[in-house]
Amino acid sequence: MSWSERQQAMLEAMGLKVWTAPPAAPVPVEAPAEVAVAEAAPAPVAPRPAPAPAPAPRSMAEVLVAPAALPQRAPRAGLERIAAMGWPELREAVADCRACKLCESRKNTVFGVGNERAHWMVVGEAPGQQEDLQGEPFVGQAGKLLDSMLRAIGLSRGDGPPEQQVFIANTLKCRPPGNRNPEPDELAQCEPFLNRQIALVQPRIILAMGRFAVQSLLRSSEPIGRLRGRVHEYQGVPLIVTYHPAYLLRNLADKARAWEDLCLALDTLERRG
Ligand code: URA
Repeated sequence: MSWSERQQAMLEAMGLKVWTAPPAAPVPVEAPAEVAVAEAAPAPVAPRPAPAPAPAPRSMAEVLVAPAALPQRAPRAGLERIAAMGWPELREAVADCRACKLCESRKNTVFGVGNERAHWMVVGEAPGQQEDLQGEPFVGQAGKLLDSMLRAIGLSRGDGPPEQQVFIANTLKCRPPGNRNPEPDELAQCEPFLNRQIALVQPRIILAMGRFAVQSLLRSSEPIGRLRGRVHEYQGVPLIVTYHPAYLLRNLADKARAWEDLCLALDTLERRG
């Protein structure tokens, strides 16, 4: 598939309609592609308004960003033990975890899914209702969008070679009641599990989706809009910040920016091998 076909497929998979400018119309230099992008549903709407603040995906400057100041969090007991676990012990430790109050309301823990040596790792926020019921991350509406986005760049959570696979995990392994935001203590208790998952997968690239993934991995409370569009690092692994799929379901205009973020991730991986 050529790059422009891949772009097209990616936009379509993300529910974006592509509008090609008539030959006479000049294309704005800052536009993210040779097309203007409009949302597919419910009806085609005007092309994306002002040029996106982020530059075009193929020419985005790569900037390595040092993590900002750490939010203060209570240290977790058993840290060293978790940091030495292999997959089976880690799965068991998550399943049996009673380190915070979420264990009282959860139906299932949600460990994560995908190839344990996947080249890609996606980090989301926390299980929702469907994930809590099924014990698998991103199986609701947001998950469907995530799968479409991944499929558009040739990735899946199913079987396949590691380079086409993602391991999907969340910052929290248990559902916060009513899908409320994770609380600092819950994040602190769960964080060592995510850190160990990343250490075991050894991904070539990490996609941090949404503010809690970013807070956990980059220790930054800056808004996603300020962090996306450049390459960060988590323990030497390139990390791309992007919008959470649940946010994208409510903010269709930002799907085009999420697409730019996927392009940046692909480019980064290609460049770094
Ligand atoms: N949102 C997340 O961040 N993770 C899930 O698993 C589901 C929805």
